Amino acid sequence: MSAVLNLPRWYDLHTHFRQGANVGAYIADHLGMGCAGALAMPNTKPPVALIHGPDTDKAWSIESYRNILLQAGADAFDQLIIPLYLTADTTPEMIDKGAESGLLRACKYYPPHGTTNSEHGVPMENWIGGDVFRALEANQITLCIHGEQHGLAGSEYFDENQTAESVFYSEKLPAILDAHPELRIVCEHITTQDAAEFVSTAPARVGATITPQHLLYTVGHLIQGLRYHLYCLPVVKFEKDLAALRKAVTTPGQSKFFAGTDSAPHTTKATECGCAAGCYTGGCAPQLYAMAFEEAGVDLGNEAGEDLFTRFLSTNGPEFYGFPPSPENFQMKREPSTVETRETGEGPIVPLPVGMERELTWTIVKESV
Ligand code: NCD
Ligand code: ZN
Repeated sequence: MSAVLNLPRWYDLHTHFRQGANVGAYIADHLGMGCAGALAMPNTKPPVALIHGPDTDKAWSIESYRNILLQAGADAFDQLIIPLYLTADTTPEMIDKGAESGLLRACKYYPPHGTTNSEHGVPMENWIGGDVFRALEANQITLCIHGEQHGLAGSEYFDENQTAESVFYSEKLPAILDAHPELRIVCEHITTQDAAEFVSTAPARVGATITPQHLLYTVGHLIQGLRYHLYCLPVVKFEKDLAALRKAVTTPGQSKFFAGTDSAPHTTKATECGCAAGCYTGGCAPQLYAMAFEEAGVDLGNEAGEDLFTRFLSTNGPEFYGFPPSPENFQMKREPSTVETRETGEGPIVPLPVGMERELTWTIVKESV
C-alpha cells in the first residue's frame, strides 16, 4: 500500500522541552515533525509554579518560562500552553489572576515523588473539594492529571491485577468528577484499560492524551533487554491495555483522545540505583502514531482511516483546549525512515524506536505545506 497523507499540522498536548542549552534543539525536533504547537510541561528545576514573574529560587513563572521557550524557537508555534505546576504554594487567587491575564490555560497535578521532578506535588486528596480546584472550575482552566496513586508499596504499584494507575482511576477520578462538576480534565498519558474505559464513559469535559510508546509497546518490550529508553511513567502495560488504548483512539467519531507524546529528553537514563523515567520521540512521533494506527488495523490510505488519524493527531486536542486546528498542513508518506541517537553535548538521547527491532515505516515529507 502506498499512501501520502496531507494532514493539518498537529498539536503535541503533553511534551517536555526542559531548560538550558538544548531547549532550541528539542523545539526544532518538534517543528521538524509538522508540529504546530505544544503544551510544554512545567516540571523544570525549579518548577513552573508561579504565573507572573519574577522568578525565585523556588519557582519559575509561566511568563518567564514562556519567554525562554519563545526565544529558543517556540515563537514558530501557533500555540504554546504552559500549565501551572500545582504545589503547596498554589492559591485560588493565583488561578483567578492567571485566568484573567490569559497566561493561565491549564494546571498540572503531579503525584508527589511519582515521576521525574514531581517532588513538589501535593497529594490529590488534599485538592479534592478545595478552593484551588473550585477556582479552576469557575475559570474553566483545564486540569492535567498524572493519574497514578503515589506512595504505594511495590506489590500494589505494579501487579497483574492492579497498578498505580488503575488504583487512581478507580479511587480518585470518580471523587474528582463528583466534587467538581464543571472541572475540565485531561487524563495525561493514559496506559491502562481501566483509564481508557473511564475516559470513554466520562462526561465530555474529560479527555485524555496517549503517547506513541503506549500504543506500540508493552512491558514485555521493556524488560526484554531492559530497554532504559522505553522506561517512562506510567510504565508500559499489558497486551489487553494496549488493545484498549488502540480501541479508544480508533473508535469512529471519537473526540476525547488526542496526541500528547510525553516526549521527555533524558541525557542520563540509568544510574547505579535506578532509571530516569521518560521516552524521547522528538522528530518521529507522527510516524510512530501512524504505525500504531496501522497495527490497530486502520487503513490510512482510505478516507475513514485518515479521518480517524486526523482526529487523534490534529483536531481533537485543539477542540478540547478551545483553539482552532491548524489551517496549514504537513505531509507524511508511507516510506521507511530512520531515527538516530541524538548527541546533545550533555550526553546522548536515545529516541524510540532505536534498538526496538522495528524501523519507522513512515517519513515526514514536509513539515508545512
Ligand atoms: C516525564 C519527564 O521526564 O519529565 N517522564 C515520564 O516518564 N513521563 C515526566 C512525566 O510526564 O511523568
Ligand atoms: Zn510528561
